[in-house]
Amino acid sequence: MNALNGLAVLDTADSSRVVQLSDTHLMQSRGGKLVGVDTDRSLEAVCRLVADLAPVDALLLTGDLAGDESEEAYHRLRAALASLDVPSFWLPGNHDATWSPEHQLSEHFKRHIRLSHWDILMLNTQRQGMVAGHLSDGELRALEEAVQQAQQAQRPMLVATHHPLMPVGCEWLDEIGAENGADALSRLAPLTDRALVISGHVHQDSTQAYQGVQCLTTPSTCVQFAPHSAVFKVDSLAPGCRLINLHKSGAWDTVVCRVTDETFEVDLDSSGYA
Ligand SMILES: [Fe+2]
Repeated sequence: MNALNGLAVLDTADSSRVVQLSDTHLMQSRGGKLVGVDTDRSLEAVCRLVADLAPVDALLLTGDLAGDESEEAYHRLRAALASLDVPSFWLPGNHDATWSPEHQLSEHFKRHIRLSHWDILMLNTQRQGMVAGHLSDGELRALEEAVQQAQQAQRPMLVATHHPLMPVGCEWLDEIGAENGADALSRLAPLTDRALVISGHVHQDSTQAYQGVQCLTTPSTCVQFAPHSAVFKVDSLAPGCRLINLHKSGAWDTVVCRVTDETFEVDLDSSGYA
């Protein structure tokens, strides 16, 4: 059975405020690093940023939550988010363990989140043992059903994935995106500007569009990757997150926020990461 199951219903105002956190890469032990950055410390800094954005209705965590598949990472993640007192919903990335609905923290692995005026669909692009992503038949079916329901109910829909569904312009990352992302987007296209896709994996802010559907990617809460680079390249930009305001009308706006109260040393000469 797929890790993502069930529905959470949140009573929100005319405009819902959702924060996307991505690619936290927490390691087995506290203080573990990714390309020189202490991923616990950087997540804590981003959580302070999120606290300043209050009120926030939901946190969407778009994969690579653990950097090494360790169970300890998920429990520390939950502890780090606890002080925000905001419901958080998680989906897996390529660095994550394979989750099951029996997982102790499965309350976070919801398929659907229903806000007062928007539907949120969480999709799993994780492909066991692979870095690149793929949407299984089950995920594509879940997407089709959600699109159909959104059309019938005339509700706008936010779709969250780990792997971006479109190329972002970095050759090395585009080779490890969602292999059949275009299949998913063609199913979403009927919703045009009443659908929005948010993804992680590429550790950078980017915007693409597919037949009227806007596709956004978001900085990591730890290390950033340089835009427009053909090969692996780290960027010196600060850790961050994305705030998305989802309005009753179906309109939305978004801003990327970055940590400014603390600096992180990143190994800019790194030629890759495990
Ligand atoms: Fe990833």
